[in-house]
Amino acid sequence: MNRLKSCINIDDLGRLAAKKVPFPVNNYVEGGADDEVTLKQNCHSFNRYQIVPKALQDVSRISTATRVMGCEIALPFYISATGFSGMMCPQDAELAGVRAAAKFDTLYTASTFSNRSLEEIAQASAGDKLFQVYVLNDKTLAQQLNQRAKQAGFKAMVLTVDTIVGGNRERDARSGLSIPPRLTVKSAMQYMMRPRWLIHYLLSDGARLGNFPHLPKVSMTDSQAFVIAMGKLFKKDLTWADAEAMIQNWGGPFAIKGIMSVEDALRAQQAGASAVILSNHGGRQLDGCPAPIDLVAEVRAAVGDQMEIIVDGGIRRGTDIFKALALGANACSLGRAYVRGLSAGGQEGVEKALSILKAEFERCMILAGCSSIDQINASHIRRL
Ligand SMILES: Cc1cc2nc3c(=O)[nH]c(=O)nc-3n(C[C@H](O)[C@H](O)[C@H](O)COP(=O)(O)O)c2cc1C
Repeated sequence: MNRLKSCINIDDLGRLAAKKVPFPVNNYVEGGADDEVTLKQNCHSFNRYQIVPKALQDVSRISTATRVMGCEIALPFYISATGFSGMMCPQDAELAGVRAAAKFDTLYTASTFSNRSLEEIAQASAGDKLFQVYVLNDKTLAQQLNQRAKQAGFKAMVLTVDTIVGGNRERDARSGLSIPPRLTVKSAMQYMMRPRWLIHYLLSDGARLGNFPHLPKVSMTDSQAFVIAMGKLFKKDLTWADAEAMIQNWGGPFAIKGIMSVEDALRAQQAGASAVILSNHGGRQLDGCPAPIDLVAEVRAAVGDQMEIIVDGGIRRGTDIFKALALGANACSLGRAYVRGLSAGGQEGVEKALSILKAEFERCMILAGCSSIDQINASHIRRL
């Protein structure tokens, strides 16, 4: 039986994912920082908002098409950057997500820390793509990445600013997970319990970082040299001046991801960013910060209509996406909602995740009395 077929919502995909990938890998995806307060709050905060339906509207034909980061797309949601996709899908890694996104005529964001190189990802589909970049210590390397992303045809740049150091993810310490996965006494049994995954992982060279071929090669028994080299890549004294220079250097649509206040959204606007992504990295970095959905209305009021606002964190339902748009967002980006599909069934699994959210979102639009994205507004939402 195709168990993907029996998944009817994103949580079902999550349960199937847990059966397909080793426990430490699934824990890495589902976990958050410290006590995971922010992780949980990201989801729960959507319940503070109620959708106000409008009766007797003509919804015989609806359109979910919109424009985000200079790209015309069919859905107001897209795939967010998630590094190391080869851990979740050793066979295809990032290629599964990028192909699925193109099928749904939406965007895919390639992470700096993808297992496949940005060129391989760019060539995998004809769809529009974003490139997510971290700020790197090595200026030449950073400029090379910028150039390569341009040459490969990425439409927009996303600068992630919330990952100066890694979050304190205690689940990973307990399960013995290292990035990339390493066979330790603690974790070996867990990996062996998913032999299909293990064979694919070992055969696929799933641990290589596609954009940094110069980093030491990793094996599952010794990843320490690699981890140390990776840690040195991050620039820790990043400032708004660096962001401004990167925006100018890119010269196209540019989003700053990890903005969590009105003040920083305004600074991003002054620096020349065309979009902000309200995000706390899915609760994986600073525990105790607000849920992005709670910031949308105030940030929209502050930045006006010209700047795009994208929201991520806790989106598991089509109604969550509708609420974000009604509060003033232009679009939402998906982390775990799509990664669960990736772990559960590679490209087919990601397509399943996108189809679930598309159907839920369309149904929500019809029930709320909206036939196009621009009809969704503050009159459709009520805060408890
Ligand atoms: C497994 C995993 C890997 C991630 N890797 C990255 C990354 O490389 N770059 C980045 O900017 N954000 C990364 N994120 C954060 C997501 O882009 C996104 O902000 C977050 O997952 C949204 O929350 P959600 O998972 O609740 O939807 C990652 C998230 C997960 C779950």
